[in-house]
Parts: sequence; structure tokens; C-alpha cells
Amino acid sequence: MEKFVIEGGERLSGKIRITGAKNSILPILAASLLSSGKVRIEDVPRISDVKVMLDILECLGVKIDWKENSLELDADSLSTSEIPEKLMCEMRSSIFLMGPLLGKLGKVKVSYPGGCAIGPRPIDLHLKGLISMGVEVVEENGYVSAKAGTLKGSTIHLDFPSVGATENLMMAAIYAKGFTRLHNVAKEPEIVDLQNFLNKMGARVRGAGTDIITIEGVKSLDGAVHRLIPDRIIAGTMIVAAGITDGEVIIENIIPEHLEAVISKLREAGLEILEDSDSLMVRGGKIKGVNSVRTLPYPGFPTDMQPQIMALLSYADGISVVKESVFEGRFSHINELNKMGAQITVQERSAIIKGVNNLKGAKVKAPDLRAGAALVLAGLSAQGTTLIDEVHYIDRGYERLDLMLQKLGANIKRVHAPVINV
Ligand code: EPZ
Repeated sequence: MEKFVIEGGERLSGKIRITGAKNSILPILAASLLSSGKVRIEDVPRISDVKVMLDILECLGVKIDWKENSLELDADSLSTSEIPEKLMCEMRSSIFLMGPLLGKLGKVKVSYPGGCAIGPRPIDLHLKGLISMGVEVVEENGYVSAKAGTLKGSTIHLDFPSVGATENLMMAAIYAKGFTRLHNVAKEPEIVDLQNFLNKMGARVRGAGTDIITIEGVKSLDGAVHRLIPDRIIAGTMIVAAGITDGEVIIENIIPEHLEAVISKLREAGLEILEDSDSLMVRGGKIKGVNSVRTLPYPGFPTDMQPQIMALLSYADGISVVKESVFEGRFSHINELNKMGAQITVQERSAIIKGVNNLKGAKVKAPDLRAGAALVLAGLSAQGTTLIDEVHYIDRGYERLDLMLQKLGANIKRVHAPVINV
């Protein structure tokens, strides 16, 4: 198993470019199943979640050519609609293959999705929406089997603006008869990116980024070429890396308005952030406690940046409160940060962080993707050596975070711990 070894104390400086968004490419790969032509996607991050999704598409019969950060797909001849359980369980995002497979083949069989341990990850909103479009759903023995003659357009109100349910139902509606109207949808930038990709293939989707998305059913989709939007969570992580080390970093290939809530909160915490049209200059400063960070659906503060800002606020002068309103179980990084000397306590869905002058390097374990990134950030500024185990979680969403940070002067190494076969 691979580990990161970090010697804290280096101030980061230099320039870094952000790659395409993980939470765009994953639904867009699912959407490519709807195409009867060739699809090319640019700026694809080389992360393990993309590899898993491509393995699933390959099992379904999709032809794939992945060179560097460019991906070509041909989904014209799908051979099956059953997704291998082993692959399904590796990643939650596989659940939004249901929509495209129902749209294109009229049936799909999936096992319950896996994913990070950040709380129960129900799929009731996905299934309720599909059933209202005429899909028959059978849940038994840990599998969900769904089939539909022709999907019919429907008006669906989501009880919660779920990102995955919004994307799944958008894709299921592409070939449905008539109009589908989705209310109380997620408004994340990745939803807009998915709409733009679908419309380039000939779909008729309107309203992504607002509370209501309307889809007019069509008969078929062509190929398309699409460049992903930059990954706003990787960008936010690098902003914190610059701030936590009191460094000075230029972050290129970003869309500042996608980061508005993050930039605003990090300025409140004392970082100096200068915006340009597609880049930021970040300078550190004295970290100040922030009375309230509350994660919310977009455009609120993103839950995917909650562990990272908590690492920063561990060094703040003063007390901070972070409330996690989106996921029930997204505090697994707190124990690990406290092993490094952070003083964080939990009251229900809120974490109270009493800032300390320094954290100390320690042996810690990445419990999930963003929690792992938070431990890297804490280690960059800790006194001494931090050893982070289970870095495969970090590789799910960051294309070589260690190399990105090394480029900016961090003393971080990836080591291959011996696998002891007992
Ligand atoms: C997407 O997950 C992202 N993943 C997550 O990013 C992100 O944290 C999340 O949206 C929220 O922004 C991808 O896009 C691949 P949700 P998703 O459905 O779609 C409840 C990362 O680190 N819910 O918006 O699974 C659910 O329990 C990952 O990059 C239901 O109750 O998130 C949760 O409390 C982590 N029923 C809330 O909604 C449902 O049917 C938000 O979940 C679906 C969701």
C-alpha cells in the first residue's frame, strides 16, 4: 500500500494548473452511452475514479482510447446492461449509469453503489424519479433491476437537490417521450457542464444552474467534442495549500465564480486572494478563526471543501465552527487531525475548532478522498514528519497531488510500503 511522507514547514510558491473536473467527467462518461457517434473529451484528469468508470464502460461494450488527458469513446455497440458488482461497489458514481442504460437499452441491473464512507448514500430520489417516468424497479439481494418499455416524460420534484439524482434523471429523460421537468434540482457547475455536453450531442436540455431543468425527448444523439470545466475542488484545495504554508501561489485554469463561496470564506480566514479572469494569486497571512462555515448545496460552501478548510482552521488564531449540513458522516478526518495536535470537538453536525499555533507530524490514515486531502494540507505545515496511509483514497480524485505539491516546493514523497503477505 502506498503512503505519503511529508516534512512540514516549506512555504509553497510558484504556479499550478488545474485539470478537468472529476465530478464533471464521471456523469459525462455515463452520458456518452447515449451517443450513437464518437465522443472526444479533453482535459480528463488521470484519476482512479475515471479508470473505474472506464472499466465499467468497457464491460458494457464501449470502445475506449485514452491518451494523456484526451479520451475518445464509441458507445455504438453496447453488449450488455449489467454492471459487474465488483466495479459497482468501487464507486458510488456508477449509479448514474442507470439513466443512460434505461434510455438506450430499456433495462439495467446494478448493485447498490459503493463510494466514500461519508454517510449513508441512499438512492431513493433516483429511483422515485425513474419510477415516475414509467420505469419498473425491483430491489432484491442488494441489486436494483430496472426496466422500461418507452420512458415517458414526467414532472418530478426532488425532495433534496441531489447532484447524482439530478444527473441520472436528466440522462434518463433524453430519449423519453415528451417533456420532463425536474424541480428543486442541484445547481452545481458540473450539472451545467453535463447539460452543455448533452446539447452538443443533439439533446434538448434547458435550465441547468437554475432550480428547474426541462428536457425535451429526442430520438438519437450524435458524437461531440467537449472540454471539461476545471475542478473547483482541486482549485480550492490548492488555495488552502498556499494559505496553510503562508506561501504565494498562482493557480491557473480556474473559473472564479465557481469558487465564490470558497474564496469568500478563505478571505474571512485571513488569506489574500487576488482574482483574474481564469486564475488566482493566493498569499498566506495570519489565519483567523471563522465563526461559521456551513456546507450547503451550490452556490453555498461545498461539502467537498469542508475537510480542507477544517485543516486550515486548526492553525487559526481563535475558535471556528464548521457545520456539515449535506452528509451525515463527513467528520472522519477529525480524529486524524487531533492525532496531529488539533483541538477539534464535535457537537451533532457541528465541529468546534480551537486553533493552535502548530500541529505536529504524526502517523495518520486517509479515511476517504477529501479527508485524505485535508491530512496532506495539515502535514504541509506541521512540525516534523507526517506519514499518511491509504493514499489510494486521495488518488481517486487528485491526479498525483504529491507531484502537484512538489512542483510548488513541498517536501512530500510517495513511498511504497511493503505489502506483508501473512
Ligand atoms: C455528488 O455526490 C459528488 N460526487 C460528491 O462529491 C459531492 O459531495 C455531492 O454530490 C454533494 O455535492 C459526484 O458528483 C461524483 P448527493 P452525490 O446525491 O450525487 C442525500 C467528492 O468528494 N441523498 O447530492 O452522491 C445524500 O445522502 C464527492 O468529489 C438522498 O437522501 O451526492 C446526501 O446526504 C463526495 N437520496 C445528500 O443527498 C438520494 O437518492 C447529497 O447527496 C440521493 C442523495
